[in-house]
Amino acid sequence: MVEIPRDRIARLMERETRRFVEERPKSRALFERARGSLLGGVPMNWMVRWSGPFPLFVREARGAHFTDVDGHRYLDLCLGDTGAMTGHSPEAVAEAVATQVRRGVTFMLPTEDSVWVGEELQRRFGLPSWQIAMTATDANRFAIRLARGITGRKLVLVFNGCYHGTVDETFVTLRNGATLPKKSSFGPPVDPALTTRAIEFNDVGALERALRPQDVACVLAEPAMTNVGMILPEPGYHEALHDITRRTGTVLIIDETHTICAGPGGYTAAHGLRPDILTIGKPIAGGVPAAAYGVSRELAAGAVSGIRVEDSDVSGIGGTLSGNALALAAMRATLEHVLTPRFYETTFPLAERFASGVESVIRSAGLPWHVVRLGNRAEYQFRPTPPRNGSEAEAAMDLDLDGFLHLYSLNRGILMTPFHNMALIAPDTTPADIDHHTRVFGEAVRELFEGRE
Ligand SMILES: Cc1ncc(COP(=O)(O)O)c(C=O)c1O
Repeated sequence: MVEIPRDRIARLMERETRRFVEERPKSRALFERARGSLLGGVPMNWMVRWSGPFPLFVREARGAHFTDVDGHRYLDLCLGDTGAMTGHSPEAVAEAVATQVRRGVTFMLPTEDSVWVGEELQRRFGLPSWQIAMTATDANRFAIRLARGITGRKLVLVFNGCYHGTVDETFVTLRNGATLPKKSSFGPPVDPALTTRAIEFNDVGALERALRPQDVACVLAEPAMTNVGMILPEPGYHEALHDITRRTGTVLIIDETHTICAGPGGYTAAHGLRPDILTIGKPIAGGVPAAAYGVSRELAAGAVSGIRVEDSDVSGIGGTLSGNALALAAMRATLEHVLTPRFYETTFPLAERFASGVESVIRSAGLPWHVVRLGNRAEYQFRPTPPRNGSEAEAAMDLDLDGFLHLYSLNRGILMTPFHNMALIAPDTTPADIDHHTRVFGEAVRELFEGRE
């Protein structure tokens, strides 16, 4: 075991915090002012979760880089926690948005782009019928509602450590076999054991047992877990998931919101998965809020026959701004010109370079850590081998280490995802950018473990 030098982390954090504050007077002043009008000084609660004493305020961004209001330029490996996985403001999306915004933003009527988008989603993901939502959270909520409506069952099965947006049913944790509210869940509406069954990922026996009573409407799963560190499915797990859901009449919802990193058709197309419903959001419109969900022929027929036209606006599926013309123009531009095979051909080798750089640092420092890559997403975790499930991944988390590594990187021009040690690679990241990260990561590790302060 390598001892984590807690005292040294605390000392280094003090030094890094001083530097962060001294070099960012404008962000600091904006934050102080913002505290007068915004809850926690930020427009959205997650933005308090940076390791400095205040968030950076962004001036502008393009591609893989952004500049803060103090004039510092950063390599962005967070990319809006996947919302900007395409890189910031890709030219094709900026053009399409600028054009559409002058032609009308939202109509409660479809535009021609919606047909193009529906056909493209069908081609990429293999599901025949599509709907557009504003966020992945919404897409998941609508998908769950469809599954419940069609199966007549109430329960949702999720995996311990999952995140699928602010979907109440998924805010659970598994403790000694019991499904409990996540400690972090603020104001849960009901005891989630009433709505949800949680099991560990990669455990076929647990899946069999959980679905055997045939009272679960749907399994909601990321094909590889990405929100508790990265957890890849073991060989045969997806085949088992497919077979057991078929046998028990359970709807299988695959959430590709993050795993679209694996290829143009997400993990689903890359690995031949066959979900009943597929949900996706975040980067699908190049950063413009938009999401989508596709359903099988059978579920589409059930939805059409189950929702009367006169009830369609109050059925619980959809929303006023969902499917608006602006989002569809952005989605079309993203799918047609940005998230193309070329995007993946460009970013995969860069992500591989990132992962092998991190691995070389880990190996030469003899740390019991590892790095996993899925497409253009890579993540290092503080355990020697990849975790099999959410409990193993959670046990390896270390907020002190995260905080130090993130702040150290920020002070040297690199933004990591704040919630874990995930890096996403946009196409205009350069090999020199990646090598800069490897160098900075190496220096941080040396300061931490060799005491060179
Ligand atoms: C896998 C997955 N699904 C859904 C969501 C929800 O996305 P949004 O917050 O854009 O609704 C997230 C957000 O992190 C996610 O990681």
